[in-house]
Amino acid sequence: MSIYVCKGCGHVAFNEAPAKCPVCGAPKSSFERKDNIFVESAEKSKEGAVKHIPSIKVNKVCGLVPENDCIDIIVRIGETLHPMTPEHYIQFIDCYVDHEYRARTYLTPQTNPAVIFHLKNTEGKVQIVESCNLHGLWKAEADL
Ligand SMILES: [Fe+2]
Repeated sequence: MSIYVCKGCGHVAFNEAPAKCPVCGAPKSSFERKDNIFVESAEKSKEGAVKHIPSIKVNKVCGLVPENDCIDIIVRIGETLHPMTPEHYIQFIDCYVDHEYRARTYLTPQTNPAVIFHLKNTEGKVQIVESCNLHGLWKAEADL
């Protein structure tokens, strides 16, 4: 699968670069093809996987939006909690369904590296991409 990364905001697009970045609005020309981006992160930070690979829990009974068959995608970075200091932290967490972008949550060193995405009822696979300011982009996938 081809992977494109927006030079403006780090948004990852799968299969093809969009006409316009859905996160920052940058044009198609600002996307760079980087098919090995996740492999490169894993190779650069071999012991880092346990702290960077998103851990995903899918909860089909949402307590907040039950009237709309909401599916909760509960994400934590990672199995061993990633640090959140001004020098080293998770910048954002992006959510996809079948590799189509759904939403981004920005984080700061003052927060914990965990978020919940409230997806409209859907089937397929969810992908989570996170960006560490020092160790790059990491991805995980789960069934919906
Ligand atoms: Fe890191």
